[in-house]
Parts: sequence; structure tokens; C-alpha cells
Amino acid sequence: MKRIGVMTSGGDAPGMNPAIRAVVRTAIGLGIEVFGVKGGYKGLAENDIFQMTSRSVSGIIDLGGTILKTIRFPQFKEKKVREKAYKNLKGNKIEGLAIIGGDGSAQAAYIFSSEFNFPVVLLPASIDNDLYGTDSTIGFDTAVNTAVDAIDRIRDTATSHERTFIVEVMGREHGNLALEVGLACGAEIILIPEIKIDWDKIVEELENQKIQGKSSSLIVLAEGAGKADDVAKLLQSRLPEQEIRVSVLGYIQRGGKPTSATRNLATKFGVEAVRMLKEGVHGSMVGFKNGKIVRMPLKEVISQKTTPPIENLEIVKLMDI
Ligand code: ADP
Ligand code: F6P
Repeated sequence: MKRIGVMTSGGDAPGMNPAIRAVVRTAIGLGIEVFGVKGGYKGLAENDIFQMTSRSVSGIIDLGGTILKTIRFPQFKEKKVREKAYKNLKGNKIEGLAIIGGDGSAQAAYIFSSEFNFPVVLLPASIDNDLYGTDSTIGFDTAVNTAVDAIDRIRDTATSHERTFIVEVMGREHGNLALEVGLACGAEIILIPEIKIDWDKIVEELENQKIQGKSSSLIVLAEGAGKADDVAKLLQSRLPEQEIRVSVLGYIQRGGKPTSATRNLATKFGVEAVRMLKEGVHGSMVGFKNGKIVRMPLKEVISQKTTPPIENLEIVKLMDI
């Protein structure tokens, strides 16, 4: 393999830049040329492709976002668009592709690599941590820390005013982010899409917290389980004596300097991905399982669902006395 491509796709995540850096430098070190694709699958289809050098990735290990830009490009679901992408790869004599992206990018990578028998490796990158086959995705640790830092600040005003706060975090239809964040910031309640909400139970818990002498309560709500404003309205009607407020963390969870854990995961994924491409590994994902870097067939990754750390709910309950 003499020439590979690298690209970032889908929702951006902190750590994409360290991953790009690792792919570029590992490849060049192995005598493989590296071409960057600008703007995910759209850049592939529009031939927005350029050669990268070791200097192209200087000073980006600590940079949030992605220097290769990213995009959501549903047009890639059309075969003729994928054929254009394949033609552009061949036109640039690119023999393999490292794709840094989330579950949607994984679906696309599998379809594309099977359709054209083209060597592709996915580096799982998403703040949702929603890819089967890896304990952690690039960006997840950073998003958790960003959210916890923001909620620690909210906790200050919640305790000062003795208010109940509902803080909405990202995660699309998964509760992974909410469960990790909720445990770390000492939330009294975590609401996730995977578990049906029993409103009577929630109201009772909030009432008991007051009886226990808690001056304020914190509810971490995964966006897939509902909108913070709706939850606040419902609870305020059931608990008129409590002052209930809302904070939606939003896109700060997608930005910021990647943490050291994110940087090191991204770097190890980048090194392994180039090794896999050099060995001609087709349709696979790099993963991290039980402390080890692993290789997962994309077919398995896209056909299975992740299980969120539900055990965190038990621990939160133990702490809520
Ligand atoms: P993420 O990778 O963060 O989950 P998306 O869900 O937007 O983000 O997926 C990234 C890109 O992958 C999409 O914008 C689209 O270009 C492509 N994609 C996603 N699903 C498919 C699919 N089923 N077929 C073809 N392309 C897809
Ligand atoms: O998949 C990452 C993510 O941040 C989700 O948690 C969130 O629901 C979604 O992307 C937001 O999508 P967009 O960036 O297209 O607004």
C-alpha cells in the first residue's frame, strides 16, 4: 500500500485532530503517502482531496474540532454519489481510507468498502460513545469532562438558591453520556432513553430529598429521554413548592481541548488504523476493549447495539441518602 486517505465524518468530536495527526505521521513513517479529504464523504464525492505532510499536522494534538472539516452528507446514501467517491479515490491512486467518525460514518464505511471491495478502517469518534465493539470512542472522555465542569458550576447556583436543576446533555438516542456525567457530578437523578420514566417515582424521590434535608437537587437528562423544558413544566406542576430551573448544555459538549485520555486514545487508534490498512484489512474498525486496542469487523459493529452503563443508576441511588 503506497497511498492512503484520511477523513473526518459526521458529528465532530474533540480528539479528531490527534487522530488525524497519528494517521498522517504513522503512514509517512512507513513510507506511505497520505491524502486528506476535506469535509467527509462530501469531499470524497467532490474530489476535495490534497496531499498531507508531517508538517500539515503540527500543533494540532491539543486542538478541538477537525482541520479536515466534517459534514453530514445524506446524499452518500445514493449509489451514484458513492461511485463518484470511488472514482475520485482511484483517480488519486488512493488504495485505502482511514475514516474518523461515528455510527453513521461506520454504516457508510461498511457499505462503501463492501460495494467496491475497498480497504477502509473506521476510527470510532463520537461524543455519544455509541459504537459497538469499543469501550470508548474518540471525544467521549472530553465531552464527559466538559459537561461535568459545566454542571459543577450549575451546582453552585443550585445550592445558593436551593433550587432543583434539570440539565440536558447530548447523546442522541443513547444514555451513555448522561450516565457517565450524572455519576461524576453527583446527580440525584439521571433520566435516559433506555429506561421508561416513572414520573410518580421521580416526584417522590424529589420530595424525599427535601425531607432528607437536601437543599437542592440535580437531574441529568439525556436529550433522547426528553426536553428539559418539558420535564421542568411537568415537575413544577407536581412540586409547586420547589423552584425548578433548566440548563441545556448543547454544543459546548462537542468542543474544547481534547483531554489526555482522548488524545492518547485517538493517537493509538490512528497508529493501529494505518497498520491495518498496510496489512490490507478490509471493512474494519479499531476499538478499545478491556484496556487493549482491538480490531472489529465493521459488519459486526453496525449490526449490534451498545449497552449503556446502567449500573451507574444503582450507584447514584446508593449515594442519594
Ligand atoms: P456520525 O458518523 O457522527 O454518526 P452521521 O450519522 O451524519 O454522523 O453519518 C455521517 C455520514 O455518513 C452521513 O452524513 C452520510 O454521509 C453517511 N451515512 C450515514 N449513514 C449512511 C448510510 N446508511 N448510507 C450511506 N451513507 C451514510
Ligand atoms: O452524534 C453527536 C451529536 O452531538 C449528538 O449527541 C447530538 O444529538 C447530535 O450530534 C447533534 O447533531 P448536529 O451536530 O447535526 O446538530
